[in-house]
Amino acid sequence: MTTMQGKVAIVTGTSNGVGSSVAAMLLSQGAFVFGVDIAAASSSLSGYLNYRHHQSDLSQPASPIDAVKACAAAFGARIDVLINVAGIIDHYGSVDTLTDDIWDKVIAVDLTAPVRLMRAVVSVMLKQEKIDGERGAILNVSSRAGMSGATAGVAYTSAKHGLIGATKQVAFRFRNEKIRCNAVAPGGVLTNMALDKEKLDMQATPAIDAVRLAGQSYDAMNTPDEVASVIIYLVSSASRGVNGAILPIDNGWSTI
Ligand SMILES: NC(=O)c1ccc[n+]([C@@H]2O[C@H](COP(=O)([O-])OP(=O)(O)OC[C@H]3O[C@@H](n4cnc5c(N)ncnc54)[C@H](O)[C@@H]3O)[C@@H](O)[C@H]2O)c1
Repeated sequence: MTTMQGKVAIVTGTSNGVGSSVAAMLLSQGAFVFGVDIAAASSSLSGYLNYRHHQSDLSQPASPIDAVKACAAAFGARIDVLINVAGIIDHYGSVDTLTDDIWDKVIAVDLTAPVRLMRAVVSVMLKQEKIDGERGAILNVSSRAGMSGATAGVAYTSAKHGLIGATKQVAFRFRNEKIRCNAVAPGGVLTNMALDKEKLDMQATPAIDAVRLAGQSYDAMNTPDEVASVIIYLVSSASRGVNGAILPIDNGWSTI
């Protein structure tokens, strides 16, 4: 059993899916959770006294730093944990049909915002004393598409690969300061992640289906809670020796 009792955690994407499960698990273990999402707070979190919701579009340049300042105003200067969950998918589009709009949106939410949040949070973590030998722990939610070219479009694939690179760089750079940074790479997760089927790139989709569908049958998919419990482990002291890891949560999909 890990315990997050009394820890302060910033979690993005808490209004739905994986982020909502992560927040609920942290809160049930006694953490203070500062949720950031473009949408209103999930009703499932409203009963927790230690939850604060910050409604903000993380693709806006000032949003990440504003969120970190608002967390300090709510819970004090210390931040023990950052979990970057918020994300959007593309339409499985190929590079020849890619629009600037899709590229800019997906990179802004899935790569730039998590990096800006890490920048703001690491600055805080560096100034704080260690607790249980650690200054802080960061967890980024990448994807199977962060390690494969055959499961999504070029924008999402690039953003999720980029997030893995950022995770490894932060992990190595701040290892001596005792700030850990890990990522998970989920396969299919049973959430409502918006995939506008009418906009799907119908030339690209069949080309990637051989690999994509192997991970997306109902039996191969994980629940948000199954993903969340691994995330909690990776930010808890139970995983103290793990830094710079990219952990698949995909029922073996990545063995293909
Ligand atoms: N669902 C899957 O199959 C799957 C697979 C692999 C990885 N992932 C990753 O898991 C993470 C969580 O996805 P999910 O499945 O829970 O999806 P979801 O759509 O249920 O949740 C994503 C959350 O991010 C929020 N969000 C989107 N854009 C935002 C913005 N600009 N600013 C702030 N918040 C914003 C949404 O409002 C939503 O609450 C994402 O990073 C996603 O890429 C999902």
